[in-house]
Amino acid sequence: MGNDWWRTAAIYQIYVRSFADSDGDGVGDLGGVRNRLDHLAGLGVDALWLTPFYASPMADGGYDVADYRAVDPLFGDLSDAEALIAEAHARGLRVLVDVVPNHTSSRHPWFVEALDSEPGSAARQRYVFRDGRDGDPPNDWESMFGGPAWTRVPDGQWYLHLFDPAQPDLNWQHPDVHAEFEDILRFWLDRGVDGFRIDVAHGLVKADGLPDVGRTDQAGLLTTRELPFFDQDGVHEIYREWRKILDSYPGERIAVAEAWVPSPDRLARYLRADELHQAFNFHYVETDWSAAGFREVVDASLAAVADVDAPTTWVLSNHDVRRHVTRYGGGERGLARARAAALLTFALPGSVYVYQGEELGLPEVTDLPDEVLTDPVWERSGHTDRGRDGCRVPLPWSGTAPPFGFGGPTWLPQPADWSAHTVEAQEGDPHSTLTLYRRALALRRELPETGLRWFDPAARDATGCDARADVLAFARGDGFVCTVNFGDVPVTLPRPGRPLLASHPGVAGDGGDPDPAGRENGDGVVTLPPNSAVWWSGDTHG
Ligand code: NOJ
Repeated sequence: MGNDWWRTAAIYQIYVRSFADSDGDGVGDLGGVRNRLDHLAGLGVDALWLTPFYASPMADGGYDVADYRAVDPLFGDLSDAEALIAEAHARGLRVLVDVVPNHTSSRHPWFVEALDSEPGSAARQRYVFRDGRDGDPPNDWESMFGGPAWTRVPDGQWYLHLFDPAQPDLNWQHPDVHAEFEDILRFWLDRGVDGFRIDVAHGLVKADGLPDVGRTDQAGLLTTRELPFFDQDGVHEIYREWRKILDSYPGERIAVAEAWVPSPDRLARYLRADELHQAFNFHYVETDWSAAGFREVVDASLAAVADVDAPTTWVLSNHDVRRHVTRYGGGERGLARARAAALLTFALPGSVYVYQGEELGLPEVTDLPDEVLTDPVWERSGHTDRGRDGCRVPLPWSGTAPPFGFGGPTWLPQPADWSAHTVEAQEGDPHSTLTLYRRALALRRELPETGLRWFDPAARDATGCDARADVLAFARGDGFVCTVNFGDVPVTLPRPGRPLLASHPGVAGDGGDPDPAGRENGDGVVTLPPNSAVWWSGDTHG
């Protein structure tokens, strides 16, 4: 395992509850992940990120941790975690685990002790307790899940929770909190993990005096505006401490920040040489399907990290956002765009994250019945926001009806029409999304280690009009070109080289096809179907 592995790594996100079930209770578990390691190694990713599997009352799917050193019985036990790490390593897969330092569960022994203790006591100082303002909360901060960010306890004090009331925020000005998390990091590093995904990495430090924001709908401001509870300069001191711990272990142990900040420049601050290795690129996630939008976000992302010598990450989906097939319009068109987005994304310099199920082309499940919804967002929003369950539906593995080989009945119901999405159905199908991902991830390993150079694709639509506004084209080094047609009509352009792989079914580089990019129109001109991407080997250019 070489140096700087994380700079170009493809990292697969496992939402453990929904990945694979080994004991038939309909909830994914660590045994399920162990059983499917060959699928992951075969997909061609370099590392796995496991969402929290720690002891938890599951008020927020495990992001409410009651014991950071124990595995919740729903998911297995510590020996399963140790075996999983060892078995992943045996297949050359690294393992990242989640660490949740902004808040604990309200059932964490520290919070139980705080509630049992007097206002002003040492136990309360590990959290953010304050007196209210004339019977109202101490300030106007809102929970990211809706409603006020403060809950009153029987003696009249209030405690801060930027998320659910079952997730009280820790006070990172308290030395106990620092010591405890350093010990938690060591606990998992000693068990061989290759690093951490840091939950709400931007939230640990709050502005002095806890000043009002001065307006509502604060969750909507996450990536646009400075907020007194997010992205405060003091968080960087914490990551400098953590980096020393990571660096004190052999091998390259890394940390990736979940940091929702107003700009790529602010994000880059988490990636300074003595801080974290990576941060999720949420500006990329939020980009709508358009050539101009993608060009802008790619340029801004690359420019922001250039000064800190860190790789950028490219993320299309995760367990908190609508799946990108659906974000890009859903149906056949959404899937075509998602497949094209995968080729675009995997062609960019840096590290990529793949969210479980995107390799199967899964859409968001938008019609879950009210009574099965578990995301606290549903209740906290007064049933106006259906929350994030729709991207967390258990994966379909095999068969023609739910639970599609998962085990179950599954904790969230799967759509009855997912049989074409199963791993079994896509296995060996040259046009399947699974095959596209495998080929792309394998070819991606051969990409030159250079930056990206945009070029003018000279694209034309069927009427001969200039279609360049809908097409992106870039080269990596001399030998590789990626072209993407974001438009809804076919375009023609000068052939950029020999086609390696295309996102469009039927023209997807599936072996027998002499020109996987589409029909050769003579005179070195090729047609790109709507919403498609092609990889080209530039060495046969001309
Ligand atoms: C971010 C996690 O990804 C999300 O699922 C969770 O609800 C919040 N942080 C709070 O921990």
